[in-house]
Amino acid sequence: MEFSGKVVVVTGAASGIGRASAIQFARLGAKVVLADVNEAGLKETLSLIGDNAVIVPTNVADDVACQAMVDVAVQTFGKLDVLFNNAGIAGVRGRTADLSVADWRRVIDINLNGVFYCARAAIPAMLANGGGVIINTASVDGLVGMATLSHYTAAKHAVIGLTKACALEYGKQNIRSVAIAPGYIRTAMTKDGLNETERALFETLVGQVGRAGEPEDVANLVVWLASDRAGYVNGSCHTVDAGLLAGFALPA
Ligand code: NAI
Repeated sequence: MEFSGKVVVVTGAASGIGRASAIQFARLGAKVVLADVNEAGLKETLSLIGDNAVIVPTNVADDVACQAMVDVAVQTFGKLDVLFNNAGIAGVRGRTADLSVADWRRVIDINLNGVFYCARAAIPAMLANGGGVIINTASVDGLVGMATLSHYTAAKHAVIGLTKACALEYGKQNIRSVAIAPGYIRTAMTKDGLNETERALFETLVGQVGRAGEPEDVANLVVWLASDRAGYVNGSCHTVDAGLLAGFALPA
């Protein structure tokens, strides 16, 4: 896979899956725009990449900031080829009636509206450049429900729907839109959002490959989806979950 001459925007690039993917894109030759609300984390990612990247502090819940992020990509590197629409939060946990309206809105603003704002800003730049690829980070919670995370579940299901609509709208203009659905991946989100017992349970459930997922496991899928090798892949959602959603396995 070769990304020389390609320009990639990664949101949520200060940490976890975004950081691992940004590093892989840069290693494969891309120029990378690193976007996140966490400036210190962005600087750390930049230091791991070196020259071929710029940081753009961005709150994806702010549509004006998302447009500015795409503008910086085009002004700095001349065009935009790939948007990895990945920033997200788990949100406060609680059963639906116990969530405040503010809790609900925060998750929807970042995990759903943010994905729309970034895609909306990126699509005209991609059309001007003859096409591109949009990869939206959903979750296994975009395919099945997760109790105590109804806002997150709703946002991630909606991200998959948004991806399908974009795929149909822009496929003929050479913009592919795909979603990914990671399972249990060891990042700040799962470290902070789950207690020890819950983490251990997830690690048992994903025992099909005998370990928890790492950000690099997701990054491997992301760079492939963004590459020309995935040229016939559009409108689909790709699990990377070690078989978590494949079914149930009784202890052997
Ligand atoms: P992470 O917490 O390591 O990374 C998320 C990044 O998004 C952080 O750097 C954070 O600062 C950034 N972010 C949060 N709010 C933002 C905002 N308003 N604007 C810009 N950036 C913002 O977590 P992880 O796991 O790498 O998450 C990346 C994506 O993967 C998220 O969309 C998450 O929902 C998704 N995901 C993660 C799974 C996991 O098991 N870790 C499983 C399924 C999906």
